[in-house]
Amino acid sequence: MRMYDIIEKKRDGLQLSEAEIRYVIEGYTKDEIPDYQVSALLMAIYFQDMTEDERAALTMAMVDSGDVINLSAIDGIKVDKHSTGGVGDTTTLILAPLVASVGVPVAKMSGRGLGHTGGTIDKLESVPGFHVEISNDEFVSLVNQNKIAVIGQSGNLTPADKKIYGLRDVTATVDSIPLIASSIMSKKIASGANAIVLDVKTGAGAFMKNLEDARNLAQAMVNIGNRTGRKTMAVISDMTQPLGNAIGNALEMEEAIHTLKGNGPNDLTELCLTLGSQMVVLSERCDSIEEARSLLTKNLQNGKALEQFKTMLQAQGGNPAVVDHMELLPQASYQIDLPAKQSGTVAQLIANDIGTAAAMLGAGRTTKDSVIDLAVGIILHKKIGDHVEAGEPLLTIYSNNQQVDAVKNKLYEAIHIEDKQVATPTLIYDTIINK
Ligand code: URA
Ligand code: CA
Repeated sequence: MRMYDIIEKKRDGLQLSEAEIRYVIEGYTKDEIPDYQVSALLMAIYFQDMTEDERAALTMAMVDSGDVINLSAIDGIKVDKHSTGGVGDTTTLILAPLVASVGVPVAKMSGRGLGHTGGTIDKLESVPGFHVEISNDEFVSLVNQNKIAVIGQSGNLTPADKKIYGLRDVTATVDSIPLIASSIMSKKIASGANAIVLDVKTGAGAFMKNLEDARNLAQAMVNIGNRTGRKTMAVISDMTQPLGNAIGNALEMEEAIHTLKGNGPNDLTELCLTLGSQMVVLSERCDSIEEARSLLTKNLQNGKALEQFKTMLQAQGGNPAVVDHMELLPQASYQIDLPAKQSGTVAQLIANDIGTAAAMLGAGRTTKDSVIDLAVGIILHKKIGDHVEAGEPLLTIYSNNQQVDAVKNKLYEAIHIEDKQVATPTLIYDTIINK
């Protein structure tokens, strides 16, 4: 096989065979095919797209480029959730214990990552003592015993995706549905999931800015999952404004605890119930979304989800008393309100800019080695569609630095108040549940 012929074939709009795709991925992972040839192929894919067969083959070739986590020692169908990323997205902290509370095994492998706030593990580590440095054996036995455990990412997962993503970043080929879909799905499959629920965000704060792109990406990933033997469902949800009210690590932990007690913000609770219902159905614990939703709703109200959360904390060294004593979480030295400059209705709450303000306070990482401040962040008091009086607090800034003028300016830019009625944005645009 020659790389030249493969590039030419894709350039001309023909379909690559599985063997050709494997040749490219294996050769590139081993540094046997140079960047310039893979760049040319990526650009050809960008313009010519890939068929469903090609997308599935690319995904599995990337899975096989590195380690694959084997969760077969855990009883039951292992369902994982993936979000394409948003601001203040606290869903994993809630979904994991909520879904485990109805008997579905949750073997969560998570990361820290870069972003406006930390990742799931950073948020969990705001609970004193909680740690994710457990052995694989301990991970497996905790999930079998308690239905839930969280472990940090380990091993050399999908090295081909890492290399290709780096190349796409510098060759203007990130924005390609087949490349994004195979990249995300390869990582989930390599982490050992038997079934996958996807939360594809759309709006100003999301990777997919418009609904059509989000729907195409979701459908592409569901198709890949179903073709590679991993039942997959997807939700398309709003990210024009942050999800819930808290943005920040310990603040999101607090918000998760309120939600697990049944007192969370409506949008966050609704999204958790929607995604959770899909996870429960894919695990084959329930036959219908409706039945799953009613079980989950019950466990938010009767304390079982919260009890499951305490079990998880305790099993990994965390102090379960935090659920009743949130002052045990890291606390910021200063709480500074941001007053509205005029009366009216909140018309915009630009998610990305609010995330940037949280990052300016120290809530997120800019490089892999940055140290994050778990205590800082933002609590929103108003969301899009809410009325506000001049002088009333729009939000509270939690800071360890008394000087927050730059953060305040960023936030004022992110919030638009208008003198007219504004509808609450749709939270869930679509669900894709074909199995
Ligand atoms: N996130 C991924 O993991 N891969 C992509 O290609 C884009 C976003
Ligand atoms: Ca939130």
